[in-house]
Amino acid sequence: MSRGDGPLLSLENIYKFFPVRKSFFVAGTLRVHAVDGVSIDVPAGKTVGLVGESGCGKTTLGRMAIRLIPPDAGRVVFEGRDITTLAGEELRRIRSKMQIIFQDPYSSLNPRMRVRDIVGEGWRVHGIARGAEAREMAWRLLRRVGLSADAADKYPHEFSGGQRQRIGIARAIALSPRLVVADEPVSALDVSVQAQILNLLRDIQEEYGMAYLFVSHDLRVIRHVSDTVAVMYLGKLMEVSPAEDLFREPIHPYSRSLLSAVPMPGGALREKIVLSGEIPSPIHIPPGCRFHTRCFMAQRMCGEVSPLLRECAPGRYAACHFV
Ligand SMILES: Nc1ncnc2c1ncn2[C@@H]1O[C@H](COP(=O)(O)OP(=O)(O)O)[C@@H](O)[C@H]1O
Ligand SMILES: [Mg+2]
Repeated sequence: MSRGDGPLLSLENIYKFFPVRKSFFVAGTLRVHAVDGVSIDVPAGKTVGLVGESGCGKTTLGRMAIRLIPPDAGRVVFEGRDITTLAGEELRRIRSKMQIIFQDPYSSLNPRMRVRDIVGEGWRVHGIARGAEAREMAWRLLRRVGLSADAADKYPHEFSGGQRQRIGIARAIALSPRLVVADEPVSALDVSVQAQILNLLRDIQEEYGMAYLFVSHDLRVIRHVSDTVAVMYLGKLMEVSPAEDLFREPIHPYSRSLLSAVPMPGGALREKIVLSGEIPSPIHIPPGCRFHTRCFMAQRMCGEVSPLLRECAPGRYAACHFV
């Protein structure tokens, strides 16, 4: 149970570095700053959308949120409890409340397992159901995600991409989790199938009341699903705003640049802002504001002082010296 009215999940100033070899010929390692001091809350039953260009650290953050990988620093607090260093049986128990849906429904399902065993794995592991009862539960679950009961006896390769993602969703919700990390869950699917899967995710959220940390590089998807949106750049959050506010009027120059590529909620086009240059390497993060090398608003101090994420308007946070 959540204690008090706190958020379901709090990530508190978390970091993740990956060591990489300097080069084939040179000894020593460098560090990829995949997640570089991020704090964010996910309220129970709500959807926090996490958006940013490829390589900015979204997947790494999502995996730390459900303790698939440990952070190098900072805290993960779930239901009011610090789970940062939880291990063994205790971690296993808490894991049943946190699930993940992966981007690629082809590689995330074990090709040698029948669908009923895939979706029922958690029931076995946690001693909830087996045998005829588990079979009955699997049928019900598969129907709930839009598959027929005879899917239970088949193998993943017998399904289309969209159907496989339905199986992945069934597996994720089998234990009625309170938090689901959805990591680019529709990015590998045809556009026509994307809407069906997004609608399914919305319907089961209404029914089960779980929270989503919804990762996507696609702003249209993020707009469709999110209550709150966190905009990430090179391992840090640039802006956190209610989705409606962000898409009406983004605050941070990076959000403004990203959103200039998608129409306003009413359909009107925005002033086009072209991001200059390439994303810097996450091994050599620019000093000061890490976005300053590409920012149309950058001043001298931006290359010297790193701005903190601060409340710029009620309920809206941005890390910029000039907003
Ligand atoms: N296991 C790993 N070893 C080394 N670098 C990694 C590893 N996983 C991710 N990275 C790097 O960390 C950064 C963030 O990656 P990721 O979280 O996958 O970003 P996103 O999901 O936003 O595309 C990238 O530069 C990526 O290359
Ligand atoms: Mg990713």
